[in-house]
Amino acid sequence: MLSEKMVKALNDQVRDELYSEYYYLAMSAWCEENDLPGMAAFMALKSSEERTHAMKLYHYILDRGGRVVLQAIAQPPSDFKSHCHIFESMLEHEKLVTGLIHNLYGLALEEKDYATQVMLQWFIEEQVEEEKEATELIQQCKMIGDSESALFLFDQKLGSTSPGEETAAN
Ligand code: FEO
Repeated sequence: MLSEKMVKALNDQVRDELYSEYYYLAMSAWCEENDLPGMAAFMALKSSEERTHAMKLYHYILDRGGRVVLQAIAQPPSDFKSHCHIFESMLEHEKLVTGLIHNLYGLALEEKDYATQVMLQWFIEEQVEEEKEATELIQQCKMIGDSESALFLFDQKLGSTSPGEETAAN
């Protein structure tokens, strides 16, 4: 049985993962609007991935006899300065999420909640990949610089890339 404090913390994380879904969808919309269809498709996939993170936690709460209480999701930013700014914002956001996951794990340790510790290990590993992916995309953006042809090719490549694929081969 989960403690009340843990149920509350897990529900907060469901909300935060759903916010990530919303945030990445806003980024996808910006990319579409700014003639970057490949990046838009990639960010839409990232957005869907965040829904799966939220649902993992959602099912875990229910499986352990807790109550899922969905919360309001804040409005994400809708304006970005550039394609590089999208990935910089993504990295900043993923770092924040890593901190939240680590806090959750800290609570599970404090409460000697071993099942929650095991469940959260997946998220801890996922955050390493998420940060690595965003960092690599920022580096690629820097290499593109002001070259429109390089940006065109980058956008095309990203359109046929699934999230995680970039880092999986490394
Ligand atoms: Fe659910 Fe991108 O972390």
